[in-house]
Amino acid sequence: MTEWFEALDGLHQQVWRCLSLGVTDRDASARQPTLATISPDGWPEARTVVLRRAVSSEALLEVYTDSASDKIASLQRTPRAALHVWDPALDLQFRLQANVTLMKGEPIMDRWSPLPEVARLSYGVTPPPGTPIADARDYQKSPDQSRFCVLSLKLIHIDVVHLGTHHRRASFNATDNWAGQWLVP
Ligand SMILES: Cc1cc2nc3c(=O)[nH]c(=O)nc-3n(C[C@H](O)[C@H](O)[C@H](O)COP(=O)(O)O)c2cc1C
Repeated sequence: MTEWFEALDGLHQQVWRCLSLGVTDRDASARQPTLATISPDGWPEARTVVLRRAVSSEALLEVYTDSASDKIASLQRTPRAALHVWDPALDLQFRLQANVTLMKGEPIMDRWSPLPEVARLSYGVTPPPGTPIADARDYQKSPDQSRFCVLSLKLIHIDVVHLGTHHRRASFNATDNWAGQWLVP
C-alpha cells in the first residue's frame, strides 16, 4: 500500500489536514505556527500565532492580531509572510509563503462577534505592544474592536519535508495549481 508521504498529492493533502486540524484542535501541531515577516528595516522577525482559519480550496489562512503590534508596520511595508510548522508525530515539516492582506472593521465583524471576552482582551492593550515600561505590569488590557485585525494569508508556495526511512522533500506552487515537484531534501 502506498503511504501518504510517498505521493505528491498525499503530502499536499496531509499539509491541509494538519492546517484544518490546527484551527479546531488546541493540541494540533499547526495550532500555533511560527509566523515570519520582514521588518521595515529589513530584518527577519518571527513569532508564535494561533491559526484561526484554513480553507484549502482557496489556499487561504487567517491569523488574528492587534493592529497596534509591530508586525502591522512590517506587513504594510512588505505584505508577505512565511509560516512554519513541525509535526513530530508525522515527521513532517512544512513552510508556507503567502501574500498578506490586512482586514479591519465591518468585514471582520463575523470573526469578532463570537470571540469570548477573555480572547478580546488580546486586542487593545494600553500602551501599545512593544512600548518600554518601568514595571512589567504597567499596562492595561481592555478589548478594543477597532484594534482587531485579521491577517488574511493567500498561499503561493508550500515546501514540505518528511523524515521517514528515506527523507523526502517537495514543493508546491499556486502557479501550477499545486501539482508539486520532488526536491532533494
Ligand atoms: C502561544 C502563543 C500564541 C500567540 N498567538 C498570537 C496570535 O494569534 N496573534 C498575535 O498577534 N500574537 C500572538 N502571540 C504573541 C506573538 O507571539 C507576539 O509576541 C506578538 O504578536 C507581538 O509580535 P510583533 O511585535 O512581532 O508584532 C502569541 C504568543 C504565544 C506564545
